[in-house]
Amino acid sequence: DAVYSMIVVSNRLPVDYVEGPDGETLWRTSPGGLVTALEPVMKQSDGAWIGWAGVADREFDPFENDGISIVPVPLSAAELEDYYEGFSNDTLWPLYHDVIAPPTYHREWWDAYVRVNRRFAEAAARAADVGAVVWVQDYQLQLVPQMLREVRPDLVIGFFNHIPFPAYGIYSQLPWRRQVLAGLLGADVIGFQRAADAGNFSRAVRRLFGYATRGTIIEVPDADGEVRRVVARHFPISIDTESFEELAARPEVQARAKEIREGLGNPKTIMLGVDRLDYTKGIRHRIKAFGELIRDGRLSVEDAVLVQVASPSRERVETYRQLRDEIELQVGRLNGDYSTLSHQAVSYLHHGYPREEMAALYLAADVMLVTALRDGMNLVAKEFVACTGDNDGVLVLSEFAGAADELKQAILVNPHDIEGLKDAIIEAASMPKRERARRMRALRRRVREYDVARWSASFLDTLTGSASVVPGVP
Ligand code: G6P
Repeated sequence: DAVYSMIVVSNRLPVDYVEGPDGETLWRTSPGGLVTALEPVMKQSDGAWIGWAGVADREFDPFENDGISIVPVPLSAAELEDYYEGFSNDTLWPLYHDVIAPPTYHREWWDAYVRVNRRFAEAAARAADVGAVVWVQDYQLQLVPQMLREVRPDLVIGFFNHIPFPAYGIYSQLPWRRQVLAGLLGADVIGFQRAADAGNFSRAVRRLFGYATRGTIIEVPDADGEVRRVVARHFPISIDTESFEELAARPEVQARAKEIREGLGNPKTIMLGVDRLDYTKGIRHRIKAFGELIRDGRLSVEDAVLVQVASPSRERVETYRQLRDEIELQVGRLNGDYSTLSHQAVSYLHHGYPREEMAALYLAADVMLVTALRDGMNLVAKEFVACTGDNDGVLVLSEFAGAADELKQAILVNPHDIEGLKDAIIEAASMPKRERARRMRALRRRVREYDVARWSASFLDTLTGSASVVPGVP
């Protein structure tokens, strides 16, 4: 079997399995930011990506895609239900997002989580060269660092949590709170989005294990009484800014943006929401605020439209189905009450779109509404900024999204405060051009400077100890 010196492990592979017209296997690259960021490092260092192919009950041999070795990990339909839909997305996801929805605790789900994490760890152990760097991604795989260290103490192991890490009062609900912390502490470096997340993690470690922490260092005693130093700190993730800027500058994308505006009747203000259909995103709060503004006559359907892209997500989890019903009822009511034959109040799209179309939508929008109730980072906010090349657009951003730590020139809102949110939307829609440009210039500087390449370099430098001085992140 081939071995690699750099390995990324994530629940989803950077490629999706799709079946061709004649039942043949095809792989479609999913152009996420993570792949873009890691591609150069992976190619340079003979890297491999370990993950699930997105389909149940199928085994695939390792293969190459765009110069990266892909090592698929199989999951059965039952494991998908218990490990992915269950423990990952119905236990950990709501718990880590401050119990916006109630987490469900099932012992069978936990057992499946342990089993599947072990499978990922074993796949990584088999594929890793002596002394290789293994970078594990996200909440679905929190036990992998420890499982891997037990069998391969020679490896350099990193972990990055893409979602928030909750305060101890919430985290301590988890029946397996000690096991999960121990799993993570198998890593050499544990990365979080915000400083507050890293702080919550370190506090949980102190409370549950009593280990000493000094700044970003946690002192973990091992079996022979030696102390292993684990770094826990924040590395805010970002986007491939240049590629979004380049997309938004393309003539065909600009023409498409114009077409979108015309299709909507060239209203004065296009407001845009773009989210996975998820209860953490505050989609209902946003639609409520927008609807009340129309009801109160502070906005009119002739002048303003809300385009809401809600891409399908985790549709087999009950909370997600319920949310879809609620949103669609809300949109239907609002449109029924206020749309006219020529103007629709909300244009609701339950689809995912390719990057070109997203860039055109960002370009077409005047006001971007990011009203997450809790969000690790929120890359949509950064994508909007990168695509607003003419500096003409306003970002309304929830203070509960990680991006708020960096994007300070946005109009920051508390989405629970509907009156405050309404005022912010009006402020955004009526902001003078000079003020819009001033804020957007500052925002663009930020996303240019801290792009995803900087993020991965900063994490990997810390992991391999090549960063003598911890690089400056916000
Ligand atoms: C979030 C998580 C990712 C996850 C993505 C899509 O961004 O941090 O780990 O891949 O949502 O969710 P899905 O369940 O479809 O993988």
